[in-house]
Amino acid sequence: MKLSSLEKDMLSGSHGEAVKFAMKLVVKIGEIYKAKELIEISSSHILAHYGSLHDAGIDFMEKLVQLGAKCKVPTTVDPSSLPKDWKDLKIPEEYAKKQKTLYDLTAKMGVIQNWSCTPYECGNVPRFGQNIAWAESSAVAYTNSVIGARTNRTPAGLDISAAITGRMPKIGLYLDQNRIGEILIKVNLSEISDLDYHTIGYIVGKEVGTNIPVFHGIPKSCSNYNLKCLGSAAASSGAVSMFHIIGVTPEAIMCDPFNHKKPKYTIEIDNSKIEKATNELSTLKKDVIDLVTIGCPHLSLEELANLKNLLKDKKIKKDVKFWIYTSQSVYSTAREMGIVQEIEKTGAEFQVQTCPVISPLYFYGFKGMMTNSAKNANVVPTEHNINVIYRNIFNCISFATKRE
Ligand code: F3S
Repeated sequence: MKLSSLEKDMLSGSHGEAVKFAMKLVVKIGEIYKAKELIEISSSHILAHYGSLHDAGIDFMEKLVQLGAKCKVPTTVDPSSLPKDWKDLKIPEEYAKKQKTLYDLTAKMGVIQNWSCTPYECGNVPRFGQNIAWAESSAVAYTNSVIGARTNRTPAGLDISAAITGRMPKIGLYLDQNRIGEILIKVNLSEISDLDYHTIGYIVGKEVGTNIPVFHGIPKSCSNYNLKCLGSAAASSGAVSMFHIIGVTPEAIMCDPFNHKKPKYTIEIDNSKIEKATNELSTLKKDVIDLVTIGCPHLSLEELANLKNLLKDKKIKKDVKFWIYTSQSVYSTAREMGIVQEIEKTGAEFQVQTCPVISPLYFYGFKGMMTNSAKNANVVPTEHNINVIYRNIFNCISFATKRE
């Protein structure tokens, strides 16, 4: 693999032991995947939740910190495994300690402590065409597709190594030829609800796996919220890292997303498929819901303001928890604006900087969950052994509340 003289210096140790250690990993991965060269990246988004990294991840981060590692590019971090009220939620002290160690280690390396899966809504906003190294499948799908920045699904370990070196092997979605659409998705729906965007993503992810889908039939008026939900669901039911939408996403506006080739095959999405998938995502057969989750992916300020309006004059029932997931920066701004206080008056609670999948929900002993997120509905039953009812936001609110 061709290395520049600066990269050779980094590898030889003249930029310090931490850079040498991280660079060795970046180069090794590049060699395995037969990269011809490295590319410079302009930001990173890493995983540091104990629920996934475990002790091996802590050991790796500790080694980097001991060697004096610092992020070379702006670096944000995915949600943590630890809710703020972890003691009340029966999370063992030992588990909490491990996540706190990861807070400490990432902070020492200069990672921005925002702990969110929507870094593009919290200050880590790449430009079109920029190379970045992001983990978090939903953020990867969003940034490749909606923003047009370039990243693969960067695995843990390589993500922080990229942050420290500012380099990644030039492979996968960094290359033009790997960003071409492969499967045509014809969306034949007269109207597409917010929930349908999740469901469409779920259906498509299951069918296309790692291929790049190209959607036809999604209106230009779709919101960023719709696109982040579509991407997060497709990335979780399959491994979609990028999608195009004709007339909507930038690379499908600037040129033919199929690059004048024929799609491998076509999938049609109609009402019957939506209904079947919606039912499939509801695994709870008995009506024993004691938890409602909203905010997967993390809510933006706009979505939170909308939720405040929907909850107006309502009270959460005593036997139900209504948990809202968002980032620290959105939460803090919403607090300044009085949105948080209005929502909390209803009895709804915020779970800031964490996530229903990444946090150990199984410790809490919930019997059943309702959610408006296809990703949650898809993953929580297997990850946490809690069955789910998948419904739109109106159903979630109406189930969890009574009028004041
Ligand atoms: Fe984000 Fe967790 Fe959902 S990382 S996309 S809130 S599963």
